[in-house]
Amino acid sequence: MTERTFSIIKPDATRRNLTGAINALIEGAGLRIVAQRRIRMTREQAEDFYDVHRERPFYGELVEFMTSAPVVVQVLEGPDAVARYRAVMGATNPAQAEEGTIRKLHALSVGENSVHGSDSLENAKIEIAQFFDEDDIVG
Ligand code: GTP
Ligand code: MG
Repeated sequence: MTERTFSIIKPDATRRNLTGAINALIEGAGLRIVAQRRIRMTREQAEDFYDVHRERPFYGELVEFMTSAPVVVQVLEGPDAVARYRAVMGATNPAQAEEGTIRKLHALSVGENSVHGSDSLENAKIEIAQFFDEDDIVG
């Protein structure tokens, strides 16, 4: 089924000029970038976005990291986009990520792991709405 998922190219990747390299992996996996914007996340945006992790020990570090440099927020569209993008991203910890995945190729650590992707279709809809108006998405 054609789906949309939400992606973030994180500060560790924008700092190293990896936006294009990551987009090539996304497009190479058959996902179309149907919306994209480079932003500096506010503390409030980062706190809201990662609210599910509020009680985790790494929450403060995660919010600091996500606001430390620009990010690129994206909407990706394609067949089974949610699961397909999770597969292209690889495991959260790059040491456990499969060969050829974005995190295996580019991530620095479990925290500075280059990309975010929605973990369900339901969360994808919520996350897309946090950053994009429907008019900004051109499928
Ligand atoms: P996202 O797509 O970013 O949500 O990654 P994920 O779904 O693979 O992982 P999860 O939702 O469990 O964690 C969210 C983010 O928190 C991760 O991508 C990391 O950036 C960060 N994170 C998770 N575990 C750790 C950890 O043990 N230490 C630190 N510093 N950050 C962590
Ligand atoms: Mg997650």
